[in-house]
Amino acid sequence: MMGRETFSMHREWLLILNFWIAFASETSKTGMLPPPRNLSLERRNHNFCLRLSWSSPEGLNNSNKCAVHYEVVEKVGQNEETQTTERLFFERCPSLESGVMYSVKAKCNNGSHMESKSVTQGILAPKEELIRNFDCIYYASEAMNCTWKTMNETEDLQLSYWYEDQPAPEPCKLYLFEQGVKMGCHLSGKFLNHSNLSNLSSAVHFDLSGTQGTSTLNNYFQRMPRDNVRPPPPQLDIFHEYNSLNLKWKDPGLLNADCWDYLYRFKTNEFQDWKMGNVSKTTNDKLVYDVQYQYVVQVKANFTNRCGCGATDWSLEKRYGQPKPPNWSPHVVVITIPVLFTIAAIICLIFIKKLRKLILPEIPNPRIIKIPWKSEKTMFPDHFIPPEDDYSKVKILKEPLQL
Ligand SMILES: *[C@@H]1O[C@H](CO)[C@@H](O)[C@H](O)[C@H]1NC(C)=O
Ligand SMILES: *[C@@H]1O[C@H](CO)[C@@H](O)[C@H](O)[C@H]1NC(C)=O
Ligand SMILES: *[C@@H]1O[C@H](CO)[C@@H](O)[C@H](O)[C@H]1NC(C)=O
Ligand SMILES: *[C@@H]1O[C@H](CO)[C@@H](O)[C@H](O)[C@H]1NC(C)=O
Ligand SMILES: *[C@@H]1O[C@H](CO)[C@@H](O)[C@H](O)[C@H]1NC(C)=O
Ligand SMILES: *[C@@H]1O[C@H](CO)[C@@H](O)[C@H](O)[C@H]1NC(C)=O
Ligand SMILES: *[C@@H]1O[C@H](CO)[C@@H](O)[C@H](O)[C@H]1NC(C)=O
Ligand SMILES: *[C@@H]1O[C@H](CO)[C@@H](O)[C@H](O)[C@H]1NC(C)=O
Ligand SMILES: *[C@@H]1O[C@H](CO)[C@@H](O)[C@H](O)[C@H]1NC(C)=O
Ligand SMILES: *[C@@H]1O[C@H](CO)[C@@H](O)[C@H](O)[C@H]1NC(C)=O
Repeated sequence: MMGRETFSMHREWLLILNFWIAFASETSKTGMLPPPRNLSLERRNHNFCLRLSWSSPEGLNNSNKCAVHYEVVEKVGQNEETQTTERLFFERCPSLESGVMYSVKAKCNNGSHMESKSVTQGILAPKEELIRNFDCIYYASEAMNCTWKTMNETEDLQLSYWYEDQPAPEPCKLYLFEQGVKMGCHLSGKFLNHSNLSNLSSAVHFDLSGTQGTSTLNNYFQRMPRDNVRPPPPQLDIFHEYNSLNLKWKDPGLLNADCWDYLYRFKTNEFQDWKMGNVSKTTNDKLVYDVQYQYVVQVKANFTNRCGCGATDWSLEKRYGQPKPPNWSPHVVVITIPVLFTIAAIICLIFIKKLRKLILPEIPNPRIIKIPWKSEKTMFPDHFIPPEDDYSKVKILKEPLQL
């Protein structure tokens, strides 16, 4: 019995299993042609490229009724690509970072549609990794930065790069450091000129080497500048025209101008959520403008997948207009006018009541008036002299009123 962990730890086991599955399915399907012989895989071009070669199936030559050709399936990571050839070799410079697997079978499509079982060869992903998250940014014509995260401390980490037609790999000339640790390389040169790259899928190959423990390790990577395009964001200008805002910017000036789509987004001081504008193929667009609001607009360029892959960040926020104090919009009027009327009415009523008291002083009800006949003398003594205090006058005025 084999534990699942033990099993998944050994990629080789999986490979053998894959091979057997492929073999079983092939033989049960046809298996009428003998397979290509002596399939071999060779590293070339400073180990960045591969040459796969084989011999024709046993007992077959092209003089009989089978025009033999070969179907080669290349599996890089999760991507599978099938090509056919009549030759006895196949040359490629694929990305080697997650392993490559080839399977080749012979086919004849003349007369019977016979085919052979597949034969396979491959290269495994490296068991030891010096770095992870290898990532390149092609940000300007003739300039690309590649960065990584270090795994284990590797004192002598070196990067060299190579592209097709270059006689030998170049060592990195300008490393990027983060807190003293080598975390990237700045690449520049004519080979990255965007007019050189605009119509071909040229890849740059990388070899990172370093010592860990007693062994020297090499990790290989491959990146296509056109699939990692990220120039600085465009600069946005805003002009006001009639009832719209005209948005203008420049294309990133990298690779073909037709390869860029533009997106803009905006918000106003009223709605704080970004609203997306339409995708634009040109370097300008229009936005309906309401003078009442302040607008905040951003634009970004998107490299279409027709040409490659990539985008800029959003541009800096550009503002237009000043927020205006709120208008007397109908619903505000409907609410505030009655409220104002009610307040005015209440104030009027209070005033009227006070005025009436002034103009028509309240006539005391005779029934309520208690005439203090008996106490008249005490209230109004013959010689009434008010006490000598500050409030005496008030008292005098007050008492008759209370009567
Ligand atoms: C296949 O390889 C074997 C051993 O290397 C060799 O003897 C044989 O001639 C090869 N066959 C062909 C068709 O190349
Ligand atoms: C190749 O074809 C010729 C002519 O048909 C035949 O004589 C010869 O035996 C064939 N060779 C092999 C290896 O099958
Ligand atoms: C295909 O087969 C026919 C006869 O069946 C033959 O005349 C022709 O040359 C063959 N084509 C090739 C490419 O072998
Ligand atoms: C790229 O090549 C073109 C044509 O040779 C040249 O005019 C241009 O200056 C180069 N670009 C850069 C950034 O050097
Ligand atoms: C790339 O590296 C160079 C050199 O350190 C640096 O000046 C430049 O800002 C970097 N560009 C990007 C987009 O990271
Ligand atoms: C890092 O180093 C440790 C100890 O030397 C080792 O066990 C581990 O496998 C290394 N990790 C990688 C990713 O190489
Ligand atoms: C394209 O790259 C090659 C070197 O790889 C260089 O010699 C050539 O000048 C470049 N072309 C342009 C237009 O920059
Ligand atoms: C790239 O474009 C040039 C001319 O601009 C042309 O000569 C060359 O064949 C093209 N290369 C590819 C791979 O399409
Ligand atoms: C997007 O385009 C449609 C149709 O052209 C237009 O009706 C709509 O107003 C546009 N949206 C924005 C935010 O400009
Ligand atoms: C930007 O481009 C990529 C393809 O390069 C595409 O998948 C994505 O949907 C685009 N984004 C927008 C908002 O159109």
